[in-house]
Amino acid sequence: MADILFEVTEDKLETGLRGYPVGYCSTSKVDPELGLFYHERPLKEIYHFEPEQVIHYLKHGIIDEGPELDAFKKQLHDRAACDPRVIEHINHLPKEGHPMELFTCAIQILGMFEGKEDYREDCMNLIAKLPHLVAAVINHHAGWGETPAPTPEEGYMASFSNMLQAPEKSPQLAEVLKLFNILHYDHGGGNLSCFVGKAVASGLEDMYGSITSAMCALAGPRHGKANQDCLEFVKKLCGKLGDNPTPEAVQQEIRDMIANKELIFGFGHAVLRVEDPRATFFYEYGQEHFPDHPLIKMILHLREQGPIVLKENPKIADPYPNVDAASGSILTAAGLPHPEYYTLLFGLSRAVGIAIQIVYERCEAREGKGLPIVRPKYIYRAK
Ligand code: MLT
Repeated sequence: MADILFEVTEDKLETGLRGYPVGYCSTSKVDPELGLFYHERPLKEIYHFEPEQVIHYLKHGIIDEGPELDAFKKQLHDRAACDPRVIEHINHLPKEGHPMELFTCAIQILGMFEGKEDYREDCMNLIAKLPHLVAAVINHHAGWGETPAPTPEEGYMASFSNMLQAPEKSPQLAEVLKLFNILHYDHGGGNLSCFVGKAVASGLEDMYGSITSAMCALAGPRHGKANQDCLEFVKKLCGKLGDNPTPEAVQQEIRDMIANKELIFGFGHAVLRVEDPRATFFYEYGQEHFPDHPLIKMILHLREQGPIVLKENPKIADPYPNVDAASGSILTAAGLPHPEYYTLLFGLSRAVGIAIQIVYERCEAREGKGLPIVRPKYIYRAK
């Protein structure tokens, strides 16, 4: 008899599949109390590694520093440049769209020119080319001019920072982008974008189409766009309370907003029941590098005051800050004050974990047979 993992009762229907076990995740896990682990290691053990090493670790489950890692880096370097026709087409995409809309088109364009109809090859190519692809999308959308050629020998994210033509870059921006990238690669198997990408791949759609659908899922305000919306929220509070509010004023404002049924952005998570460790890293970074920046002062106040107020409501399962509470303010303080690109930066990172998980589900799971097409049951009920 197989183990009983979950009981499905009627009250579990229409709850967003919350907590339903559906399979195995080969890369990471999210513990409600301890937060995110890449394989068996908590983020605090790996966040300071180079992106190539973390990607290799996610892919293979081994922390390598020797020839295997060098060979992996070389593969990424050799594949880093997109076909010039891809960049040419990106440069003709309508600037009226949200950058995530341009990004999803760009992934499909990449697939049209460079797709190999082989999940493993497409995974490596996509991961290697994402920095070039995303830099080209942002530079085009923002009107920041031509995207220079990638310089992957300087590092996966250093190359991205070199290509990004943001006019207000600070000396810390490259470091912040690297941290942001590493912290967002993966978040278990059931976050919406990952689940959608794997579900679409289960119909044997190729890697590019599957990642495109995953990125459409990420684009929504309840998922990846929350970082953009959260920054707007923090800015609004700064505008209202000034650059040096007292903790009491911030707490009162949160109470007033709740009384007015306004949303408090950046708090709560479907799985976590503690402060999101990814947020903790951003808070620490902000405290160390930008302690006098008004946005950083505000997110630190919110970190303290938010849980005090939210805990008073027993219906709130997780009153603690999530990753989006702090990431946008750090990016702004570091010289990228353009929230419309923050979800895209999330996508640049998360596409890595999803692509690796798709390879597992398509090529490795069930002794290499792969998982069947996703087909859950819906029960008919008249409205
Ligand atoms: C994520 O990183 O994907 C978000 O925290 C959402 C989630 O895990 O469900």
